Amino acid sequence: MFDAIYFLIASLLRKHGYLLQRLPQAQDFQEDIPFPEQYAGPEHFLRFYRPWLAPEFDRLLTPEITENTMLPKVKLYMLLSLLKQTRSVEGDILEAGVWKGGSSRLMVDYLNSVCSKKDAWLLDTFSGYDGISEDKDCHRARDGIMLGKSADEIREVFSNEQVRVHVVEGSIPQSLRDVSAKQIAFAHIDVNLYTPTFAVTQFCLERMPKGGIIVFDDYGWPATYGARVAIDEVCADFGHEVITVPETTQAFLIRL
Ligand SMILES: C[S@@+](CC[C@H](N)C(=O)[O-])C[C@H]1O[C@@H](n2cnc3c(N)ncnc32)[C@H](O)[C@@H]1O
Repeated sequence: MFDAIYFLIASLLRKHGYLLQRLPQAQDFQEDIPFPEQYAGPEHFLRFYRPWLAPEFDRLLTPEITENTMLPKVKLYMLLSLLKQTRSVEGDILEAGVWKGGSSRLMVDYLNSVCSKKDAWLLDTFSGYDGISEDKDCHRARDGIMLGKSADEIREVFSNEQVRVHVVEGSIPQSLRDVSAKQIAFAHIDVNLYTPTFAVTQFCLERMPKGGIIVFDDYGWPATYGARVAIDEVCADFGHEVITVPETTQAFLIRL
């Protein structure tokens, strides 16, 4: 009886945009744990360790990053953590989908900080979406949306780095011919659409040595389902499976 009433009220509320949810009755939480504020959980009031809330991580997030990226802290944290894992893997790093340069800046800052010998390849149309697939991508996708900085502005931003930064302007797949990296140790793929995601994932996997990592920003977002399809198709060809990152739209793979 109670269950029936609960479901009735819950479905009525859901129709009006509210979520009726039973709170967990108890959660073990050590009172003397250091930095308890880093064990936050707004979604369901449970507390987990969230190192992206730590001051050490905050210090890395300069305004040049936070004001020029769509990625929230948790995604930036995953991106940086996975990039660090490839420090001793042979090859360059590549980002497809630069927009205003925020996530690129995080990666280039890291390479600079460890005096890396890797080059960074930054690819974008720098004029927004291009190459929408009518049957694969979201019906709301339009050429030219998600316009960030121009290629010249991005070149200016990355003109004074310790590592070599190549800004590659043009639509993927065509622009991939301007990427002369022999090996790619790490890639961040964030172009939202089926066709460029497919092409750049294939390009990176063909050049990625064992231990290399690709982070996909758009894997779990329903609005970019086309990108997920592309990733799954290419991964199937290479005998790979991605690992989805809980509570974000990201996924990644480690080259076998
Ligand atoms: C979500 S944004 C990237 C966000 C960025 N990584 C950040 O730090 O917030 C997606 C980018 O993909 C680019 N893009 C879309 N289609 C493309 C294509 N065919 N080739 C290259 N870039 C493309 C857009 O211009 C846009 O800058």
